[in-house]
Amino acid sequence: MKLADGANERQRVSPANGAGHGAPASERGGASGGAKPPGLIRIAPSLLSADFARLGEAVALAERAGADMIHFDVMDGHFVPNITIGVPVLASLARVSRLPIDVHLMIEQPDRFVEAFIAAGAASVTVHAEATVHLHRVVHLIKSLGAKAGVALNPATPITALEQMAGDVDYVLVMTVNPGFGGQTFIPRSESKVRAVRELLQREGSAAPIEVDGGIDVRTAPGIVAAGAEILVAGNAVFGSADPERAIRELRAAATASVAR
Ligand code: DX5
Ligand code: ZN
Repeated sequence: MKLADGANERQRVSPANGAGHGAPASERGGASGGAKPPGLIRIAPSLLSADFARLGEAVALAERAGADMIHFDVMDGHFVPNITIGVPVLASLARVSRLPIDVHLMIEQPDRFVEAFIAAGAASVTVHAEATVHLHRVVHLIKSLGAKAGVALNPATPITALEQMAGDVDYVLVMTVNPGFGGQTFIPRSESKVRAVRELLQREGSAAPIEVDGGIDVRTAPGIVAAGAEILVAGNAVFGSADPERAIRELRAAATASVAR
């Protein structure tokens, strides 16, 4: 794959110049990353596969390894068949994290919780298109509170769900597994879906980056990046590794070797 012009020479930009929870939500960076040049790969380790008794250490490890953001998975036992962590845990981690925290809401009626997550320190908030009938309203609520807003699509959700929202979202999250659990197998068809989302965004004049989540590792990253993904979430590939810092670096190397365009 051809490297984007100068992509291999670009420095990894610190998300929002290191602005973390102390900064207003609008300056915290997060998944859309505003000033970042297109084609720059960003790595978002998912805490879902970390030891929940040592989450602060997992954040510090991700910072040391040069991760770009922390991916924080929220599950409610209704939208997905699992329950994880919520607002109080986010507030504690946001106090110690120098990286922006990217909150992935796998919950029904996300509009009820958006404000609390942003107040607790979320830099970006992703809601599922399948989880609300008022997607436009909740995306604009997130933005009005100063955070970046992303829309996630489950593997079975057609990209037409995004069509009317392309100009509104700061980024799109294409699920590459069915949400709910870490350590699942990447769905190969996701590559063509990412290509199609990329084309849709381009057609609509949107520069929103595509985030991918589920089964991302050194084997699956090159193909999905070549298809147009720029933000890679990785849980098991990082925290399931004997050397998570090395795993983050290796994932970035595998992904940047195949930057699209
Ligand atoms: C799954 C979550 C993911 C999860 C990915 O529903 O949204 O963020 O942590 O885990 P891996 O990388 O292990 O597939
Ligand atoms: Zn996630």
